[in-house]
Amino acid sequence: MFKVICLLVAGLFAVVLAAPYTYDTEHNWIKGNLSIPLTSDVIVGGFDPYGYRTYIGRVAYDTNVLPARVVAETGYAYFNTDKLSNKLVDYQLLTSSPSFDFEWIRSFDGNYEKGAVSVGTTHWNERVFICRARADGGLLMGTLFLSQKYCIIKNEDLPLRHFDKYEILVAKSKANSTCKA
Ligand SMILES: *[C@@H]1O[C@H](CO)[C@@H](O)[C@H](O)[C@H]1NC(C)=O
Ligand SMILES: *[C@@H]1O[C@H](CO)[C@@H](O)[C@H](O)[C@H]1NC(C)=O
Repeated sequence: MFKVICLLVAGLFAVVLAAPYTYDTEHNWIKGNLSIPLTSDVIVGGFDPYGYRTYIGRVAYDTNVLPARVVAETGYAYFNTDKLSNKLVDYQLLTSSPSFDFEWIRSFDGNYEKGAVSVGTTHWNERVFICRARADGGLLMGTLFLSQKYCIIKNEDLPLRHFDKYEILVAKSKANSTCKA
């Protein structure tokens, strides 16, 4: 048991060798759509301007893997890049884990934070992280490209927003410090 946990911890610090346009496999994501009942282990990450809770999701779109704001009641996953916003009816949802606590921590200027949760990579092979900020009357999750140094949020046809201060989703290991190195 401890061995397994130690391996998980070691994995956190391993160099991630990602390929372009691939899902990150460090955490557990499950397929979702309107006809798949929600399980209790999905994670709320904010709320939209219409008062709906949004679950932490991700989508594959136009050769990029991107974070998504999933409104389970309507089955839509809203997402954006720095150039576009859109929604899809097929998505994946992040699920809670026995090994990690997911937390939002304050960050800024595209800093890499330890344990930052990546959804996957873009077609230019940059890892994409999940950020959020208060915008348009909601607490909206957005897209963080570290190279662009801000959290990018665009909700439907509202204007594109850039936040240089935002929150970033990180995974903190629950494992005890009893592992042998
Ligand atoms: C949702 O996903 C399931 C399982 O892959 C599939 O059978 C079903 O057709 C999908 N429903 C919709 C509305 O896309
Ligand atoms: C860590 O230790 C506590 C107390 O001994 C225990 O309850 C918990 O299950 C342990 N966590 C893991 C991930 O093994």
